Amino acid sequence: MMMPSCLRGTLLSFRPILAALYPHHGSWLDPKWRPLVRVACLHGTAKHSQYTETSWLSQRKMASHIVGYPRMGPKRELKFALESFWDGKSSAEDLEKVAADLRASIWKQMSEAGIKYIPSNTFSYYDQVLDTTAMLGAVPDRYSWTGGEIGYSTYFSMARGNATVPAMEMTKWFDTNYHFIVPELSPATKFSYASHKAVSEYKEAKAVCSFTHSIVSASFS
Ligand SMILES: *[C@@H]1O[C@H](CO)[C@@H](O)[C@H](O)[C@H]1NC(C)=O
Repeated sequence: MMMPSCLRGTLLSFRPILAALYPHHGSWLDPKWRPLVRVACLHGTAKHSQYTETSWLSQRKMASHIVGYPRMGPKRELKFALESFWDGKSSAEDLEKVAADLRASIWKQMSEAGIKYIPSNTFSYYDQVLDTTAMLGAVPDRYSWTGGEIGYSTYFSMARGNATVPAMEMTKWFDTNYHFIVPELSPATKFSYASHKAVSEYKEAKAVCSFTHSIVSASFS
């Protein structure tokens, strides 16, 4: 049998008080509580008659948030798209499409799961620390980067090297199995805003869900 909504609300609101007064209680529906519950229920109904049960509960619902989410995809779609791109078997547009679809499905999934503040910029083509290095334009000279938005060529040659330049150093993230690309900083490093990834992914997320904010890796070691 469904409990009337005001009764349920009343029971919830009186629970801490009753629990404090009577720690060894049985059920709140025990006949001995009925007069109290009835009075409280009437009082609650009169006072909060404009509330539906849903709004009553949602006022007390905790806002939820997570700061990261696996980015490879349920079938490792990103890994395969990257390998295909690196092998020259697919285009940059193909890679972008796989990445955008993955991001959208992750945001949608989080949103449907009831997460209130959806994180964006948890995605990365390679590594979040490298993304931060790119955002700050801290590209070592050997990659011959001359400014402007950092594209795939510079980004992936920093990550993996190529026939002519070695990659940047990769090391373990603390004691975990995650590896990241170690930034190379020197007094000669010139910082500039060279990757708009965090902002563009924020805007992308905003189109999918209204409550979003961007996560930027703060761990610039
Ligand atoms: C290797 O990467 C550097 C830096 O991005 C680039 O200038 C060069 O053209 C690349 N070489 C090859 C063979 O792809």
